[in-house]
Order: sequence, then C-alpha cells, then structure tokens
Amino acid sequence: MAYDAGAERERIGMAGGRLLWGADLRPFYRGIEELRTLVDGGRVLDVPCGGGIAFRGLPQEGSYRYVALDLSPVMMGRARANAARHGLRDIVFLRGDVTALPHPAGSFDLCLSYFGLHCFPDPPAALAEMARVLRPGGRLRGTSVVRGGGRRQDAIISLFRRAGPFATVGTAGELSSWLSAAGLDDVDVDRDGAVAFFSARRACGNLDGGRSQPR
Ligand SMILES: C[S@@+](CC[C@H](N)C(=O)[O-])C[C@H]1O[C@@H](n2cnc3c(N)ncnc32)[C@H](O)[C@@H]1O
Repeated sequence: MAYDAGAERERIGMAGGRLLWGADLRPFYRGIEELRTLVDGGRVLDVPCGGGIAFRGLPQEGSYRYVALDLSPVMMGRARANAARHGLRDIVFLRGDVTALPHPAGSFDLCLSYFGLHCFPDPPAALAEMARVLRPGGRLRGTSVVRGGGRRQDAIISLFRRAGPFATVGTAGELSSWLSAAGLDDVDVDRDGAVAFFSARRACGNLDGGRSQPR
C-alpha cells in the first residue's frame, strides 16, 4: 500500500525510484501514457494490477477489453476506487494468482506487468503463464526491481526480502533468460540502477508458455 500511494503520485514515485533504486522512472510513467493508444482495439491483461497505477493511461472511451488481476483483496479495493476516480467503468477485476491465470491460451494481445515480478516466489512460472495467455505476436511490457544495480540497492532488496514484500529477485540477465524460456522473443531488458524495463513478444508457434519441449 505504501508503494502504491507513492507510485500514484508521479513526483513521489520518481523520487522513490531515484532514492531507493538509483533509477530514473520516467520510462515507466511514459510507458503508461503510451497505453492511451496502445490498448485501442485490444485485449489487455494487467497483472499484478496492484492499486491500478496503469489506469491513468487508459482512455475513458474506447474499444478495448481490460482485465486487472491481483492476489490481494486490499489492492483490488484500491484498484476499483482508482478506476472509479478515472471514470473507467469497463475494467474487469479478478482476484487470482499470476501462476494460475483463469484464461485460455491466447486470450490477450497485451500483458502489462509493472513492479510485480520481484514480489513473486517463482517469476519464471509467472512469466510462462503470462506468455501462455498472450496470443502469438502479443506483447508483454513491464518493470521489475532486479539485483545487480549496486551494493546499496542489493542490500535494500535483501532487507525487503526479509521484511516480506519481495520474494525472488533476479538480475537483469536472469530476467532476460526467464523471458526467453517462457516462449517469448524480441526480448528487450533495459536496466537502470536496480530497475529493469522489459518488453517481449509471444513467439508464434506453441501456446503453452514455452513449457513443451521441442520434439
Ligand atoms: C509492488 S505491487 C505492484 C502493483 C502495480 N502493478 C503497480 O505497479 O503499482 C505488487 C503486487 O503484486 C501482487 N501480488 C503478489 N503476489 C502475487 C501473485 N502470486 N499473483 C498476483 N498478484 C500478486 C501484490 O498483491 C501487489 O499488489
């Protein structure tokens, strides 16, 4: 909740990104602004949606279908209130686990995953599941805290892992490997301090998130 309250206020989010992670979060906020045109006509999954930081980038009217999913009922409540504040009436809210998404393969054109991976115990399994629900050619965009950004940042990550909110935190290189192993291609991982900005595309071919072995 503390993260959500800070991130929602861009100036506080930017200062937090700089102080905690040594990162410039402008690409994160810019990426959210780009959603205004990116979501048009598409089916979008936002996981984990948290308090709905991405909603600020959504057009009030438009022909898109948007599913916001998170494990925490508290965050879902915040996300619903946030959607109402932004005048977004058509978001579908689902409470669930990223590693067991209730959607058939190929259900989405775009998957957003902002600052969630480092909170998951099994990020590769989460990415495989996101890849599974993307259609071939569909895109994944997101951000994650990563190790390897500096000694101070790595110490803060260790603290946050002991304190609870963080689970498995990989390096930018590991993130890149996890994305490829999930069956995604056109992988781009750009690290600034301890924050990775990533994007990838669902490879055309199998629809099981990269879990099946080639024969
Ligand atoms: C730091 S917040 C980020 C949320 C949002 N994307 C943002 O950038 O503000 C991380 C979120 O991950 C959610 N979460 C943790 N484990 C999860 C899981 N297994 N499945 C779905 N959501 C999960 C938490 O409830 C929390 O809302």
